[in-house]
Amino acid sequence: MGRVTGSVHTAGCEWLQYDYAPGLVPSGRPEPFTMWRYTSLLPLAEGPVGYPLPVGGTPLLPAPALRSALGTPSLWVKDETRGPTASNKDRATALVIEDGLRRGLDTITTASTGNAAVATAFGAAAAGMRAVIFVSADCQEDKLALMAQAGAWVFQAPGGYAAAVDLSRAAVAEFGWVDRNTGVNPLTTEAKKTVALEIWEQLGRRIPDVMVAPVGDGPTLVALEKGFAELVACGVAARRPRLVGVQAQACQPLVRAWLGSSPTSDELAPGSTVADGIAVLRPAVGDAVLRAVRSSDGAMVAVSDTELMEAVGLLASTAGVGAEPAGAASVAGLRSALRDGLVDPGETIAVLVTGREIKAAGSPPQGRVAVADRLDEVRQALGSPAV
Ligand SMILES: Cc1ncc(COP(=O)(O)O)c(C=O)c1O
Repeated sequence: MGRVTGSVHTAGCEWLQYDYAPGLVPSGRPEPFTMWRYTSLLPLAEGPVGYPLPVGGTPLLPAPALRSALGTPSLWVKDETRGPTASNKDRATALVIEDGLRRGLDTITTASTGNAAVATAFGAAAAGMRAVIFVSADCQEDKLALMAQAGAWVFQAPGGYAAAVDLSRAAVAEFGWVDRNTGVNPLTTEAKKTVALEIWEQLGRRIPDVMVAPVGDGPTLVALEKGFAELVACGVAARRPRLVGVQAQACQPLVRAWLGSSPTSDELAPGSTVADGIAVLRPAVGDAVLRAVRSSDGAMVAVSDTELMEAVGLLASTAGVGAEPAGAASVAGLRSALRDGLVDPGETIAVLVTGREIKAAGSPPQGRVAVADRLDEVRQALGSPAV
């Protein structure tokens, strides 16, 4: 199990460190191929993993027809839609719940644009924990239905996603619940970095030239940076890939910061893009994203809703991967980066597809979804005691 030797705060992000050595990286056959293969690089004490759902070990697809469509012969699709709730949020959820179980805690909370909440609701249900979720008032109905069906308590913050984050964090401080808020709990980054470790192994222990990922709050991309950097620190890889982060044109605070220009109001309109998962006005680890992109010699790109929907169609028709628009943003971003000469088509490119299209989930069951913008409303809905 991984022994954390320290932690540094860099660009607003807590970064755990280990005693890096080649022995921390597994070398045997990946059986079973799950995220727990990398426990030597995860902050877990010795002992069996109790989290019941299989997480990680998602396929890296060669997708030949997508390669021909894009003219990129060495393209790979890391298909994170294959997790238990069909998004890369399953990884962070698993590690945070595992840690909470070991600490004897019984309630987990998170704010979410939708997918982290669904992952938390299902993961908590499987692990026998209570989940208390905070979402924006315009969270997709299908995602709300999934959370509530899994038995989570769901509060919609009229003030939007930023208000939901504030409320969830206030609840952690007040009630001592497990905090799964992305980018806030360093375990979320630790879990998501396993994607980088997997890609490296799946490529035959090679680092791609370019890695493209959607960016909302930012931990997905920052975790990729950390995973690849740790392979270098362990002495098993010589370099990191260039990181390309993708945002929706209608909500692109980090692309604008990257370009050194101010966003217009149309570029800060989270409610107006189909990519709800990445529509974040105040990214939790935005500075760390910019640092990661800069230090890897990468780039940030913005894509329109039309480009996002084309990418959804392309993934479905050429790779058989059913992505939601935010999940397909990496493919849309890659096309834009190829057009702009930021990526050479002959390079080894990995695109991270982060979330699946939702099958009709129906309406949320009665009584599980409420509106709240203050903690006393949460306390009242949960009954006394709330903790
Ligand atoms: C499908 C999907 N892709 C990408 C992201 C962005 O991840 P991050 O917030 O780590 O940048 C999210 C976040 O909710 C998401 O749901």
